[in-house]
Amino acid sequence: MAEANSFFESEEVKAFNEKIKKDDLGPLWNAIPELVSKQPKETAQPYLWKWNTVKQHLLEATEIFTPDKGGERRAIYFQNPGLKDREPWGWGATTQNLYAAVQLIQPGEQAPSHRHTQSALRFVISGEGAYSIIQGEKMNMEKGDFLVTPQWLWHGHGHEGTEPMIWMDVLDIPFIFATGGSFFEGHPDGLEKPSHSDNYSAQRYEGGMVRPIADREPMKAPVGAYKWSQTKAALDGLSRFDADRADGYAVEFVNPTNGKPANANIAAWLQRLPKEFHGQSHRHTNTSILYIHEGSGYTVIEGQKFSWETGDFLAIPSWTWHEHVNTGKTDAHIFSVHDTPIMETFNLQQEETGENQKITSEFEPK
Ligand SMILES: [Fe+2]
Ligand SMILES: [Fe+2]
Repeated sequence: MAEANSFFESEEVKAFNEKIKKDDLGPLWNAIPELVSKQPKETAQPYLWKWNTVKQHLLEATEIFTPDKGGERRAIYFQNPGLKDREPWGWGATTQNLYAAVQLIQPGEQAPSHRHTQSALRFVISGEGAYSIIQGEKMNMEKGDFLVTPQWLWHGHGHEGTEPMIWMDVLDIPFIFATGGSFFEGHPDGLEKPSHSDNYSAQRYEGGMVRPIADREPMKAPVGAYKWSQTKAALDGLSRFDADRADGYAVEFVNPTNGKPANANIAAWLQRLPKEFHGQSHRHTNTSILYIHEGSGYTVIEGQKFSWETGDFLAIPSWTWHEHVNTGKTDAHIFSVHDTPIMETFNLQQEETGENQKITSEFEPK
């Protein structure tokens, strides 16, 4: 079962396969080893994008593209080279199920409000003075903040500062594309007018440890923006104890009304690899995308060494052995996203730990 052998390559079988193909039919006996593989066999590649390259293109995009020309957002996405043949547009796939991009907004610009069935989240990379309006709430965006926009919530952006503002966007675009469930709508007012006081939800949850009694029923996004200062405080506390052997000290952004991931389809973490950390090798069926918030080191993926530093982005495909190493002079902080909630929903989440890998090659970034 599920294995190829020479009979299936014989002229007789080939001729028959060609014959049924003309009537839009397919031979399972040939297809089964690839379609029902013994273990995950995806074409996505482990890949690293250097910040200098990405930033250069993003700055050039400011001269070519402005939001008033349409196109919704000035964002450049990370196209996994192993998935670029998916039509159209490589499905915007950074990994099997997830899309990641960097977005730049200039002072004075506005990105109109819209909503879609794709869930979105943001991590602020640099700049100050920009804001998001999510479902009627205006939220400040500061470096290291994490913002959520689950499915079908209105969201738009503006910028009242003086320097370009850059953040990372992550959506489940490839997953939603595969399901055929994409819907999109533009807001009738352009940028939505705020209907709450500014930073309303972050203030309601300012304590971080307690929940307003009005929020006993599960809500979609009771907190819109998770502030860097609170995330860092959580990591400081956690770092007084033993680290996770594979991932160091890591916290996951959660929805305080149900304890689940802040964004139902996409898990997001902030992770600290302490100085001299060398993680245990592991692999899992969920895919991951890492953004190096600060620090330097490398990750070994299936024997290949990916050296990273502040600002770089790394894609880790499904079921590939990987281990993280901090070689810098300080702790490294990494923002990461994972399609774990999707895999768990369909009972596909699996994980294994293993021996540290031998480095057999080194990735040459562009
Ligand atoms: Fe959007
Ligand atoms: Fe991992």
